[in-house]
Amino acid sequence: MPPKPKAAPAAKPGSTGDILAAIRAQGAKGGAAGAPVESTAPKAVVASMAAPAAKSGSTSDILAAIRAGKGSAAAPTVAAEAPAAKAAVKPVAAATSGGAKLSVEEMLKAVRGETAGTAAAVPALAVPVKPALPPMPVKPPSAKEKKITVELGRRSLLVICLSPLVLAFASMAGAALLWLLNLARFMFPNVLVEPPTKFKIGPASDYPLGGVSTKWLAARGVWIVHTDQYKGQNLIYALASVCTHLGCTPNWLEGEQKYKCPCHGSGFYINGINFEGPAPRPLERVGIKLASDGQLEVDKSVKFQEEMGQWEDVNSFVDGALA
Ligand code: FES
Repeated sequence: MPPKPKAAPAAKPGSTGDILAAIRAQGAKGGAAGAPVESTAPKAVVASMAAPAAKSGSTSDILAAIRAGKGSAAAPTVAAEAPAAKAAVKPVAAATSGGAKLSVEEMLKAVRGETAGTAAAVPALAVPVKPALPPMPVKPPSAKEKKITVELGRRSLLVICLSPLVLAFASMAGAALLWLLNLARFMFPNVLVEPPTKFKIGPASDYPLGGVSTKWLAARGVWIVHTDQYKGQNLIYALASVCTHLGCTPNWLEGEQKYKCPCHGSGFYINGINFEGPAPRPLERVGIKLASDGQLEVDKSVKFQEEMGQWEDVNSFVDGALA
């Protein structure tokens, strides 16, 4: 007995395109119901599906034939040809036996699911994989676009700065700042820093008889006088350089031996007694004494008026014999 040819093991169908291509190829070979059986399961399935549509060969014809597969002549043909083909047709026929129309994907899923157990026998169909395209590089903004962006930013800033609300708040902030500055200035009033009222003017020998020293006029506002023309007494005393009329500062005129006020012409002798002009009374003395270190010390905090008899006070003069 010659060995009975075995049916080829069932193979897993490929993609839809592969199956349709195989169906067309089968139809081209004249694969009618009585055509020779191929050795692979997908081809058997294809043969069973493509039998009625082999002549036309279009996709729509093939799919119509598959959907009408339950009553076609392909089923018995496949059943007689290969067990794998039977297994492949079974799910499609079962699915269409109720008259329901299946989509292409549903039929392909049914075929692939039924023959999954025999997938190892079918070589995997090579599916070309498209290489991933590299990402498009980001185009940097041109100089013109940058300029436009900067210009728009400036305009926006200008619009914001010139808006009435911003101007109002800026005015309020400026007024508040000025008020705070004035308040701070009020907390620090003007302070007139005056020199101390007591100061030393050196030994009595620096002031000879008959002379008027202007050494302390500018800094301290006093003349140091050494004279014997007041009641015949040899005295050293300090005269305040303030006119008794309206407070101007007279000048000592060495040639005329008098103090002359530039404001209204009042004149005073060397001893301070007024003799001309509107000045109503003599110049005033300030305190003076001999300090422990032998120097003369002037004290402007106390004043002595001649018309009130205060020039007799010992604190208003120093004995000229010490000079
Ligand atoms: Fe000196 Fe008037 S102020 S004379």
